[in-house]
Amino acid sequence: MITGKYPNLRLRRSRRYNWSRRLIAENNLSASDFILPIFLTEGKNKIQSIKSMPNVNRYSINNLGGILDRAIKNKIPMVALFPHTSTKLKNNIGSESLNENNLVCKAIRYIKNRYKDKIGIMCDVALDPYTSHGHDGILKSGYVLNDETIEILINQSLLQAQMGCDVLAPSDMMDGRIGKIRKVLDKKNFKNVQLLSYAVKYSSSFYGPFRDAVGSKIALKGNKKTYQMDFRNSDEALREVALDIKEGADMVMVKPGLPYLDIIKSVKEKFKIPVFAYQVSGEYSMLSNAVNKKIIGKEAIYENLMSFKRAGANAIVSYYADKLNEILP
Ligand code: PBG
Repeated sequence: MITGKYPNLRLRRSRRYNWSRRLIAENNLSASDFILPIFLTEGKNKIQSIKSMPNVNRYSINNLGGILDRAIKNKIPMVALFPHTSTKLKNNIGSESLNENNLVCKAIRYIKNRYKDKIGIMCDVALDPYTSHGHDGILKSGYVLNDETIEILINQSLLQAQMGCDVLAPSDMMDGRIGKIRKVLDKKNFKNVQLLSYAVKYSSSFYGPFRDAVGSKIALKGNKKTYQMDFRNSDEALREVALDIKEGADMVMVKPGLPYLDIIKSVKEKFKIPVFAYQVSGEYSMLSNAVNKKIIGKEAIYENLMSFKRAGANAIVSYYADKLNEILP
């Protein structure tokens, strides 16, 4: 490994100039590395701010034009849609997830009509935006049922595929759902719909602001420890990924991001498949608050995002994806 020694070798030499630093850079970030999450809200002409997420808004469908035009112009490859569902539409089994006129379905149709294949659309497969208890599946006696939940997730997947969703992203953490969803998609001739499995999703405190954004925070009873992963574990993450690849996942997600760089790296090294990182809402808000209060400089955002690339992520889901003009050098 070591190819010389001081004074013949001076590693500072190539750091001397901006141009030579650029030439020896091992990693780079560009718009193509990012997926932009967009929160949706009912109604018309709405752009609502979200208290716990600085500079992130919810958009009514008719107001999606601006943010999508900018994303396409800036060469963002894909958006991820998340609905803020009104409480009166929520119930124990999240049946609004199967309504072809729910917010996500309407948004997919609007975007596909207007923009065709100029930008990809990714949608979560999970019930938490639609359940009265805020869990990702059907709750019975305080426990989220696995197999019964999958039956609904299959239909949610199929519906979103029918609407024109390009990438289905099961974020529910039920066992066995990737295989079952893949099978139904193939049977119904959606062979080219991609599956991005949130294979490694930890039960995390960093999701707080997101739950506020989609309105599942007040609803959530208890925590998600009986189905999301325990953050003391890393071998288990590799088992999750192995299973999902076998079941037909095209890409896998590791989530949250920054506290789990070790996992991103080991998944990438072991499986050599596309690995996406999710810089989640809590990471975003912590960092943004520190920058806004001038506790740290704005360059910290670039540094933070680069760590995902260094760890081996192919792409990053980030609430900074529509703010890259101010972040990338
Ligand atoms: C729901 C889902 C969550 C996030 C994405 N999809 C929250 C959760 O599991 O409670 C979190 C994203 C973020 O915090 O930015 N299945």
